[in-house]
Amino acid sequence: MTVREILKMGDPRLLRVARPVETFDSPELHSLIVDMFDTMAAAKGAGLAAPQIGVDLALVIFGFKDNPRYPDAEPVPQTVLLNPQIEALTDDEDLGWEGCLSVPGLRGMVPRIARIRYSGYDALGCRVERVAEGFHARVVQHECDHLMGKLYPMRIRDFSHFGYTSVLFPDLDAEADD
Ligand code: NI
Repeated sequence: MTVREILKMGDPRLLRVARPVETFDSPELHSLIVDMFDTMAAAKGAGLAAPQIGVDLALVIFGFKDNPRYPDAEPVPQTVLLNPQIEALTDDEDLGWEGCLSVPGLRGMVPRIARIRYSGYDALGCRVERVAEGFHARVVQHECDHLMGKLYPMRIRDFSHFGYTSVLFPDLDAEADD
């Protein structure tokens, strides 16, 4: 088990467009994914993208049954997604609060496509394809943004809904305050 350091906003490695994964089912890939799950669990994250630990690959993980950082969110299936693509299934947007392990201590209200189809590959190279809405769709869009060098503050339109988690959500578990 290796908990890796999570890069914080301001690090130029978070602004790169990630390279596609070309080799599936390798020991290096499996070990990277284990480290990512360990790192996400230690930080109580809902998702993590490889660039957040400084790895320049189009690889995201996400999923939880319940999450102290997002106590009202419905469960999201535990997923490994390589070379993901997102297709909008509606023009409708949802506004919702987001945080990011690379932007600790803050939350912002971010517009996201309300209903999407996402696809890609799992660690073995098998195709993954799902339709998602609600918080699930939000998490996928947030994580895939990391692969394009985008952090959620770049998506905020109304900065009156951006602030410190401890002020906006004082009842949230203090440990989840990142
Ligand atoms: Ni993030």
